[in-house]
Amino acid sequence: MSNPKPFNVDQVRRDFPLLTGRAAEDSIVYLDNAATTQKPQVVLDSLRDYYERHNANVHRGLHTLSDEATAAFESARATVANFVNAKDPKQVLWTKGTTESINLVGNCLSHFHIQAGDIILISEMEHHSNIVPWQFVAEQTGAIISTIPVLENGALDTEHYEKSLKNRVRLVALTHVSNALGTVNPVKEMIKQAHEHNALVVIDGAQAAAHIEIDVQDLDCDFYVFSAHKMYGPTGIGVLYGKEKLLQEMPPWQGGGEMIESVSFECTTYQHLPYKFEAGTPDISGAIATAASIDYLENLPRKEVSNHEHDLLKYATSKVKQIEGLRVVGTSADKGPILSFLLDEGHPHDVGVLLNQQNVAVRTGHHCAMPLMESLGIPGTVRASFALYNTREDVDRLVSAIDKASRLLR
Ligand code: ALA
Repeated sequence: MSNPKPFNVDQVRRDFPLLTGRAAEDSIVYLDNAATTQKPQVVLDSLRDYYERHNANVHRGLHTLSDEATAAFESARATVANFVNAKDPKQVLWTKGTTESINLVGNCLSHFHIQAGDIILISEMEHHSNIVPWQFVAEQTGAIISTIPVLENGALDTEHYEKSLKNRVRLVALTHVSNALGTVNPVKEMIKQAHEHNALVVIDGAQAAAHIEIDVQDLDCDFYVFSAHKMYGPTGIGVLYGKEKLLQEMPPWQGGGEMIESVSFECTTYQHLPYKFEAGTPDISGAIATAASIDYLENLPRKEVSNHEHDLLKYATSKVKQIEGLRVVGTSADKGPILSFLLDEGHPHDVGVLLNQQNVAVRTGHHCAMPLMESLGIPGTVRASFALYNTREDVDRLVSAIDKASRLLR
């Protein structure tokens, strides 16, 4: 890889057609990046190039186009493996996204790892996609779901976690970065502790992959999952990284073409990794465009990008705190670029509508984390989430829009 260029936010913004086009025309400030990010031109070009020049099915044809599609598809897998520092590309499975990745792990583990009476430990700050699949597993196996509480500042109660591990915990499912609060959890230490008690760990990296450099070997997680669309790639595709031994042991979860070695009415045998888990024609263009988004990110100086995003969060936090009646929700020491808040005077939905009227795009509500909102005793929050292309001017627009909304609601 060539040396990354110095980070220049104005230059970076020019890589994103929606920002320089539609958003500029309508003066939209896009601060809903935790929901999905905008896409750089290279990602859009990669989708188009695949369909215009290489479109064919993978692993099936002997013809040139199929060979080209297969090579690009497998090279994309290798790019992802490199991105998360997996030992081998076969440990990288393509899925529809974070949600499907977690469902896949849950479904497969319920057949051989989790039994009645085992504990599945999740945190109170999980997204529904890291809660509901485990409820399915609990229903199927008779396992019990237990939770790690969230402290008032939005950090996890790690003392409670340590104590909980002394019970019969077989699996810990934990978000790396909270989508609702921004909290970055100390996952490396928590994984180590879980392993000391023979529990497997699944890390939901949906909100981390675009902002934190992921090293699955260093983390020593058993599974790590994320979606491409939150890291400048296309929607509808994501990744499941798993330790090879576990992936080998896990049964396939969907049957169909591509995942088989041979089929007869008497006996079907399955493909080796990773194809055992990839039934049906995959999202070929999505995989190739995911690699384009990773190349895009890795061609930027990631440390400088991270500093820039943290600067935006710090600047925004200090500015909004000056607004009367505003409370920041999630103030833990280690945070990703997510700012959640509440106004004394207005329901988050009303605030969101007033911000939208001023062309400031944020997310409002429970952020698919209803149990978290319940434990914090709040109906939801207004959430501004920053990406590498946001600027201090975007923050100024946000702050002035909140200020106006707050005065209107008083
Ligand atoms: N999980 C995404 C969010 O937090 C959709 O907005």
